[in-house]
Amino acid sequence: MTEKADFCNKVVYQIYPKSFRDSNGDGFGDLRGIVEKLDYLQELGVDYLWLTPFFSSPQNDNGYDVADYCAVDSKFGTMEDLEELIRQGKERGIGLMLDMVFNHTSTEHIWFQRALAGEEKYQNYYIFKEGQPDHAPTNWQSKFGGSAWEYVPALKKWYLHLYDVTQADLNWDNPEVRQELKNILRFWKEKGIRAFRFDVINLVSKPEQMEDDFEGDGRRFYSDGPHIHEYLKELVKDAGIEEFVTVGEMSSTSLEHCIRYSSPKEKELSMCFNFHHLKVDYKDGDKWALMPTDYKKLKELFVEWQTKMQEGGGWNALFWCNHDQPRIVSRMGEEGIYWKRSAKMLAAMIHLMRGTPYIYQGEEIGMLNAHYPSIEQYRDVESLNYYKILLENGKTEKEALEILAARSRDNARTPMQWNGERYGGFSEVEPWLPLSAQFKKEISVEAEREDEDSILAFYKKLIAMRKNSPVIAKGEISFLETETYKVLAYERVLGEKKILVFCNLSGETQSIPMNEAWKSYPLLLENYEGKNRLTEEGKYLMEPYECMVLGTL
Ligand code: NOJ
Repeated sequence: MTEKADFCNKVVYQIYPKSFRDSNGDGFGDLRGIVEKLDYLQELGVDYLWLTPFFSSPQNDNGYDVADYCAVDSKFGTMEDLEELIRQGKERGIGLMLDMVFNHTSTEHIWFQRALAGEEKYQNYYIFKEGQPDHAPTNWQSKFGGSAWEYVPALKKWYLHLYDVTQADLNWDNPEVRQELKNILRFWKEKGIRAFRFDVINLVSKPEQMEDDFEGDGRRFYSDGPHIHEYLKELVKDAGIEEFVTVGEMSSTSLEHCIRYSSPKEKELSMCFNFHHLKVDYKDGDKWALMPTDYKKLKELFVEWQTKMQEGGGWNALFWCNHDQPRIVSRMGEEGIYWKRSAKMLAAMIHLMRGTPYIYQGEEIGMLNAHYPSIEQYRDVESLNYYKILLENGKTEKEALEILAARSRDNARTPMQWNGERYGGFSEVEPWLPLSAQFKKEISVEAEREDEDSILAFYKKLIAMRKNSPVIAKGEISFLETETYKVLAYERVLGEKKILVFCNLSGETQSIPMNEAWKSYPLLLENYEGKNRLTEEGKYLMEPYECMVLGTL
């Protein structure tokens, strides 16, 4: 298994190729577009590029519905383009991390097509159940809305799809399926790939007996399912990827499982994504019910996950944003006067924690939510489904649009803002998804590259700091008492070296205790330059969204 030292000082940059850069003028981002931007990515300082799926796909879920795992979808380019990207990335010290969608395939995948044609071998690749057309095997719900089962009249059977009806769940209990998946990993290994992200990998082991869920949507039966650890160990070992950087996306997971997934002694994965910290604005756990962010909960979750993952020897993937999440500045920062300051604070907060940071395209320039005024502008299958469900449940169009404006995955998928041109330098023609309604020249790579005080410049500093400072890469973390949940503060310690990180999560001034020892540490980084803010009681006044980093690297 890879030593932690191999990825603890690395930073991963996530690219959603469809929205990154369109090199051939069809309004759709592509692999050549990424090649064009490699110099920018090298200048940023990132080590790996996680590319969301570019494999052959009908694109019902933007590539997470894979029809052929070993072919490049022509919309993104060719295998030669990919090889060129691998080669040119390598020249710049940047590796590719491919996204393996192994919980399900597209229903257009040849395996599913052969299953539909009646071949038993391939029916056993999926989760088919006999049954009456009017009675699904269980009451489980798809994560995109509606039943998780679809009836196939010609076969008189139902198949399971935890996501879209065109994404059929694979049957991991069938050793032939596991063998096929290992072969896919070997194929990419031969192409020179050394890092993988595994999509919703903790959902792949389903229970033998499937029963109705009268408490929820069924997830408690299949999340971190019965054979998950055994299957992961086997996959990693047999595909020969123990030395690779691997990250698992874990849906509705637990800390105990994440320790096991990522602890080196278990020989499963290098690290995991969990989403608990991104549910603190879901009312009663419902993504489609708005609620102001619960900062107390947010702080508690960071303290718990950081501390316990460390104690258990696990490793976190650190992130705010990805292609499924609204933009973090719009969500937990501020889009107006504190745009820049809040974006920097949020960045510092997670980049200096224990784990490996991930940056999602556009986060490094503080891109904002889409704020689309009409449903016509949305493209995401989940958003379109839920728009209908919200209306059926009695919401007005205005209310449903307000919910989408805060929650839609399209918030993350708007075209990358390279410059101030009409289509943001993403394309010369109208993009597949409109630019954010909040797009302006100031929020672009071109503008921020020129500005030493920009969000982009701040991200570059954070990345460089991790690379050059073992205390950030490897130090122990512990949290500091701040007397308010609105300020999160922690220290990282490695031998003689120590850094202290203070982040005001709120849009108000906060006063925190400042002990004598802390005051003696030199300032390393800040996002606000006001001075002399010690009160007579010895408290320190933190401005809205202020962050500061003290210590010795
Ligand atoms: C998680 C991915 O991040 C998301 O975009 C996708 O829709 C689902 N998995 C299904 O593959």
